[in-house]
Amino acid sequence: GTRKINSKKMVTLKIDGFDVCVPEGTSVMRAAMEAGIQIPKLCSTDTVDAFGSCRLCLVEIEGKKGTPASCTTHVEEGMQVHTQSDQLKGLRRGVMELYISDHPLDCLTCAANGDCELQDMAGAVGLRDVRYGYDGTNHVNQRGASDELNARWAPKDESNPYFTYDPSKCIVCSLCVRACEEVQGTFALTIEGRGFDSRVAASMSEDFFESECVSCGACVEVCPTATLQEKSVIEIGTPEHSVVTTCAYCGVGCAFKAE
Ligand code: FES
Repeated sequence: GTRKINSKKMVTLKIDGFDVCVPEGTSVMRAAMEAGIQIPKLCSTDTVDAFGSCRLCLVEIEGKKGTPASCTTHVEEGMQVHTQSDQLKGLRRGVMELYISDHPLDCLTCAANGDCELQDMAGAVGLRDVRYGYDGTNHVNQRGASDELNARWAPKDESNPYFTYDPSKCIVCSLCVRACEEVQGTFALTIEGRGFDSRVAASMSEDFFESECVSCGACVEVCPTATLQEKSVIEIGTPEHSVVTTCAYCGVGCAFKAE
C-alpha cells in the first residue's frame, strides 16, 4: 500500500497575491516564508512555540478585523493575506519606535553590533527617527534620569561564567524564558514586574549563578539583542561560524550554519 508521509490536510491561501499550499496548522508567518515573503519578527523562532509578544509580524486578512500577529495565526482555506500594506508598515515602524525609545543607543560600542535582530528590524521597517522616550525626555537624558527608576537598567549580571545578562537591552520578548522551558526543560527564568519595570529575571534567585540555570546556552542562542551575550563574544568578537543544536549537552550541533 501507499504510505502517507504527511497525514495533515493541505490548505491553500493567497499571500500578497501568491498562492501558497501548506499543511493545516501552519502559521501564516511560516506560510509566508514558504512563499519567500519575510515578515518582520522579533519574538518568534523555529525552536520555541509562538507567543505573539513583539507585535512586529502583524498582517491584514481580508474579511477579518484588526491586524493579527502572523506567528500565532493559523492558515485557513481561501485566506487572503496582505503583509506589506502602508498601514502595516506604519504600525511596524510605530512598534519599533517604542522599542528603540526604551533602549540604550550604544550600538557602535555594543558587542552585538552587526549581529542584533533589533538593529536589523529597525532597518527593515525603515525606522529613521524616534519621537519619544521613557519619561517624555529625549533618550540621552532619559537614560541618565531613569537609571534608578527603571528596574531593567539594573546593573549587568555577570555571575554566570559563560554569559552576561544586561537588563537595559531586554525587550521582554520572552524568547529566553520559553527556550529555557521548552528547549532545556528548566525553569530558571521568569518575567517579573509590569510595564516599563517588566524584566527577565533568574527565578528563585538573585542572580543567574545561584539560580537553577544549567548554562545550556539556549537562552543566549535565541536572544534577539545583546541582553544575553556570550562572554567570549564580548571579549573576542562574533565567531566566523556557528553551530545550531537543540540538544543542550551536545557541542557538535545538528546543523551547521556558515556565516
Ligand atoms: Fe509574531 Fe513577535 S513574531 S508577535
